[in-house]
Amino acid sequence: MRYLDPKIISVLDEKLSLLNSYRPLPQASVRKLREQFGMEMTYNSNAIEGNSLTLKETFLVISEGLTIKGKPLNDHLEAKSHTEALEYLYELVDKDSRSTISERLIKELNLIVMRDIDKKWAGRYRNSNVIIGGADHAPPDALDVPSLMQELINWARQNRKALHPVELAAILHHRLVNIHPFLDGNGRTARLAMNIILMQAGFPLAVILKNDRKKYYRMLAEADKGSYPPFVRLIAQAVLRSLNIYLKVLTPARRGRERFIPLSDLAKDSKFTGKYLNLLARSGKLDAYKEGRNWLSSKEALKRYLDGRERKRE
Ligand SMILES: Nc1ncnc2c1ncn2[C@@H]1O[C@H](COP(=O)(O)OP(=O)(O)O)[C@@H](O)[C@H]1O
Ligand SMILES: [Mg+2]
Repeated sequence: MRYLDPKIISVLDEKLSLLNSYRPLPQASVRKLREQFGMEMTYNSNAIEGNSLTLKETFLVISEGLTIKGKPLNDHLEAKSHTEALEYLYELVDKDSRSTISERLIKELNLIVMRDIDKKWAGRYRNSNVIIGGADHAPPDALDVPSLMQELINWARQNRKALHPVELAAILHHRLVNIHPFLDGNGRTARLAMNIILMQAGFPLAVILKNDRKKYYRMLAEADKGSYPPFVRLIAQAVLRSLNIYLKVLTPARRGRERFIPLSDLAKDSKFTGKYLNLLARSGKLDAYKEGRNWLSSKEALKRYLDGRERKRE
């Protein structure tokens, strides 16, 4: 069974292998991209569910620890919790790219996302029936949730190889919100769970934009009726968007414009020792990548690091 047009699949795979051909990726750039996408996803995923913070405000709350006057406390807590869930997700993916999706993992994600909002029900399946605001779909009876969840995980494990990761991630997402196992936070939990599958396959974080909320709800409703391709395509578009941004940021530095040389050479006409540059590279502060046993970086990367340090001092 194919849900995605083979042409879209080959575009996805070609872009992914292009990205993979640049590995190991310069750590400082990857960290920045992760920060940017993390912030974007926290904003968009929460905003889809009615959180009133803007992208800028989300940034201020997360990065600067500010509170936004006139905005609900819960909206602040949601931004914080979602960021924690993403950190957990990255940790998981970095640690073991093979760990599979499980009920426990899905519950953990819901726990992190919801614990500051609803201590009692965060991370636990619901025991009463729910409705989804703005949707016609009536989620199954609470009594059926445990068996449906078990079935979903079995399905995901059985189809890990048969489906393309983007198909697997998208359908898991739909089935999860269709079951609606939790009292609240189902959407956010599903978007995180979907990203575990994507990231384990090497794709960057895929963000469903708040601007696409109507389309997203419409395609979910279509999937409820058994028509999956539109929703899977929507997810594929989100993945492509992220891939394109990653490629744009990560390609030019390694191709032509910048010359990556061993740190010992770079140290020669700088005020730093090779040893110190090595430390900067390893800690991800300096854009660098490892080739064999040697770290490589460029004059431009060193300048970017120095400029960044200046800015911090100001
Ligand atoms: N027709 C539908 N069928 C299944 N799920 C849907 C449908 N419409 C919306 N949803 C999902 O329900 C989510 C809202 O459920 P909710 O538990 O309130 O999650 P959250 O609090 O994270 O928004 C949406 O984000 C969406 O993923
Ligand atoms: Mg909700």
